[in-house]
Amino acid sequence: MSEISDKTESVSFNINGEAFEFPVLTGTYNEKGIHIGKLRGQSKYVTLDTGFKNTGSTASKITFIDGEKGVLQHRGYPIEQLAEDASFLEVVYLLLHEELPTQAQLDEFVAEMGACRDLPDGVKAVLNALPDDTHPMGMLSVVFNSLSGFYPGTLDTWSDEGVRKKAIYRMIANMPTIAAYVYRRSQGLEYIDPDPSLGYIANFLHMMFGKVDPVIEEALDTLLILHADHEQNCSASTVRFVGSSHVNLFAAIAAGNNALWGPLHGGANQKVLEMLEDIKNDGGDTAKYINKAKDKEDSFRLMGFGHRVYKNFDPRARVIKKYADKVLDQLDTDDPVLDIAKGLEVAALDDEYFASRKIFPNVDFYSGIIYRALGIPVNMFTVMFAFGRLPGWISQWQEMRENKEPIGRPRQIYVGESSRDYVSIDKR
Ligand code: CMC
Repeated sequence: MSEISDKTESVSFNINGEAFEFPVLTGTYNEKGIHIGKLRGQSKYVTLDTGFKNTGSTASKITFIDGEKGVLQHRGYPIEQLAEDASFLEVVYLLLHEELPTQAQLDEFVAEMGACRDLPDGVKAVLNALPDDTHPMGMLSVVFNSLSGFYPGTLDTWSDEGVRKKAIYRMIANMPTIAAYVYRRSQGLEYIDPDPSLGYIANFLHMMFGKVDPVIEEALDTLLILHADHEQNCSASTVRFVGSSHVNLFAAIAAGNNALWGPLHGGANQKVLEMLEDIKNDGGDTAKYINKAKDKEDSFRLMGFGHRVYKNFDPRARVIKKYADKVLDQLDTDDPVLDIAKGLEVAALDDEYFASRKIFPNVDFYSGIIYRALGIPVNMFTVMFAFGRLPGWISQWQEMRENKEPIGRPRQIYVGESSRDYVSIDKR
């Protein structure tokens, strides 16, 4: 790996009276990581950390999060400024190329994205072959995987730079087309082909709905920025982990997409809306659902609340909450579910259970309300998350490759049966 350990600091572990010393890596904001890679070789011990709650898997230059202070930055730029002032494609460029583009670089990038947005016709056939009620996230993963078949010349993404760039640019350029096709297929609607005269987001709306509303275009651009990357979360770690086997980029992204689908990760945005609908249909009694979430005998959780890293507030949720009011106002839409959401947030923040565990609304809590106002159905919400997160996944994959990170292969502590002899089936 390319990172350099702080030569002045080391940490020693005392195991059974013997001291083992390990170098420390200090991050930009003074975060500390102990390099324990040689621990087992020297002492026969491994560290145990299910869920990787206290394990740094890499040293990264892409995204910084301070969970205690609610800070999120991409390549040093605060998310609030990017959401307010940048376009989604500028942020994509920043993630992929490490710096914000100049106007000329952005123009070239936008043109390249426009030039390869068409999907091979066979993708429609693949989607058409799936059962009508396939979940859009299942459809999306199938399409991601199928790209390795449709773009056979772009499989050696590991060692060939030209191939790598082609695959990366195709995926990002194709993503609006893929998401729109998935939507049209899941709704049983005719596909709408890309319109080369339209920009990246406007063309997506055209392929989704056959029309483009500038208010929706702007709102969507911001939502995608807010989802663009989030350092070593479950799906990004999956992309890096699967990619570390040197499999092609399409396969690594499909794996990350599957990780995103789960309700504890990106799938939460669908679950939030379903939960809010349930509360509304149940008479709007938020206290009842707060009590259910606190009841350890009940598996119910407040969806859209809590985060592994943010322990104060999620800065993305703050931006989105402000945006939800603005968008609903501009679109002249009244959504009773927004009132339920606000009531639930106030009640939860006031409750000792949530306060003591530092559980706050996360990015998924309000995003669904906006997606719904934009006319996007609930089962498409996680696809929209994937749309925004794709550049983050790709940047994480690129960095893992550039760092020459070894194949991901954790250790375990075996706690099963000790050695015993095979018993033939008639004697069991
Ligand atoms: N509702 C009720 N209790 C909760 C919740 C919640 N949403 N989140 C955490 N807790 C409780 C949990 O029961 C535990 O209590 P105790 O200490 O008494 O056992 C404590 O808080 C710590 O929770 P944890 O599950 O150990 O924390 P974690 O860091 O492993 O989990 C989380 C983080 C996001 C998976 C979890 O908060 C959760 O399940 N939230 C709901 C799903 C959700 O909104 N996910 C989206 C996350 S943000 C976007 C993304 O990553 O894609």
